Amino acid sequence: MAEIGAIQLLINSELKTYDAEMMVLITGATGYIGSHTWVSLLKAGYTAIGVDNFSNSNHLVLDRIKTISGCKPLFFEGDVCDSNFLKSLFQNNKISSVIHFASHKSVSESVKVPLKYYGNNVTGLVNLLQVMSVYGCKNLVFSSSATIYDPDNPIPYVEDMPLKSVNPYGWSKNFCEQILRDLEFADEGWSIAYLRYFNPVGAHESGLIGEDPNGIPNNLMPFICQVAVGRRDFLSVYGGDWPTYDGTCIRDYIHVMDLASGHIEALNFLISSKQSFTVNLGTGIGWSVLDVVKAFQDVSKKIINYQIVSRRDGDIASYYADTKLAKMILNWSAQYDLNKICEDSWRWQSKNPFGYQ
Ligand code: WQD
Repeated sequence: MAEIGAIQLLINSELKTYDAEMMVLITGATGYIGSHTWVSLLKAGYTAIGVDNFSNSNHLVLDRIKTISGCKPLFFEGDVCDSNFLKSLFQNNKISSVIHFASHKSVSESVKVPLKYYGNNVTGLVNLLQVMSVYGCKNLVFSSSATIYDPDNPIPYVEDMPLKSVNPYGWSKNFCEQILRDLEFADEGWSIAYLRYFNPVGAHESGLIGEDPNGIPNNLMPFICQVAVGRRDFLSVYGGDWPTYDGTCIRDYIHVMDLASGHIEALNFLISSKQSFTVNLGTGIGWSVLDVVKAFQDVSKKIINYQIVSRRDGDIASYYADTKLAKMILNWSAQYDLNKICEDSWRWQSKNPFGYQ
C-alpha cells in the first residue's frame, strides 16, 4: 500500500513507489543543459520524466544517461507544441513540477527566422502552461537568459535591472518571462523560478555527455573544441578592438554541471517555499575570448589556431552576472573554474570527436 503523498507507477515492467512531490517533467531533456540537469536530478533523488522531439539532440543521450546514473531514464518522444502529447503525459503521470528547457537557442538563426523562435519558444511555453493549469501542476523552473538584459545596463547585471533584447531569441525569452509574470499575477497558485543563464559551457566529467551542436557551432567553446580535435582549421575571433583589456569580448562562462546544480536548488526551493523568484546563474567572473583560448590550450596541450576577424552583429563588449541573489535565496554559487570547464569540455570532445555520431 502506497503512503499518502506517494504514488505507484509501472516503469520498465517494475512497480515502483514514488513521492508525488518528487515527480518532475523535463522538457528538452536530451539537449545540452537538459541532459546534464537530468543526471543531477536523478542523483538528487528526484524521479524525472524526460521529453524531447530530438530537433537538436540525439537518441544516444538516453544510453549515456543510463550509464552515468545506473537506471534507464523514463522518456517520451514528443513536442511541447503538441497539446495532446502533453495532456497524455499529465494524464498518465502524477507530475508535480516542470523544468522547461525545450526551446531554440541560436541568436544568429533567430535573426533570420524569427517566427521559428516565437513559434517554438513562446507558443511552446503557452501550450505547456495551459496543460499544466488543467492538471493543477503549477511549479515551473524556467530557462531564461542573460540575453534579456538591456545591453546598456552597467555590469555586472543585477536581476532588477531593465530588460531589453537585441535579437528575436532574446525577445522570445523576454516575452516568456512577461507571460509568466502575468500568469503569476492572475493566479497566486503558480510558483515560478526564472533562471537567467549566462554562458553555459563544459560537460559532465564522465565525458559521456556534452554539447554537440548541429552543423557549424555558433558558440565559442564548441568551436574551440572542434578546432582542437581537428574538425575546423581555426577559430574566428569576432573583433579584436572591443573596449576590453585584450580587445576581445568578455563573458561569464558557467560550467553546465554548476548550472545543473542551480536547477536542483531552484526546484528544492520552489517545492518547499512555494515562492517565485528570479536569479542569475553565472559565476560573477568575466573572461575574454583569448582567456578562454589560452586556458583551453593549457589544458588540452593542443594549439588553437585563431584569426581576429570583424565583430559579429549583435555582440556586446562585456557582461557578467551579479551572483549575490542566487547565493542569498538558494545558497547556491558556481563551484567550477575556467580550467575545470576546459578540462571537461576537452574530455567530452576528445572521447567523442564527432559528438554523438
Ligand atoms: C561568446 C564570445 C563571441 C564564437 C550565448 C548564447 C545565448 C545566451 C548567452 C543562454 C562572444 C565570441 C564566439 C566564435 C568568437 N545563452 N565568439 N568566435 O553570444 O555570448 O551568447 O550565451 O541563453 O543564447 O548564444 O555566446 O559562445 O556565441 O560567444 O569569437 O566562433 O565568443 O563574439 O564574444 P554569446 P557565444
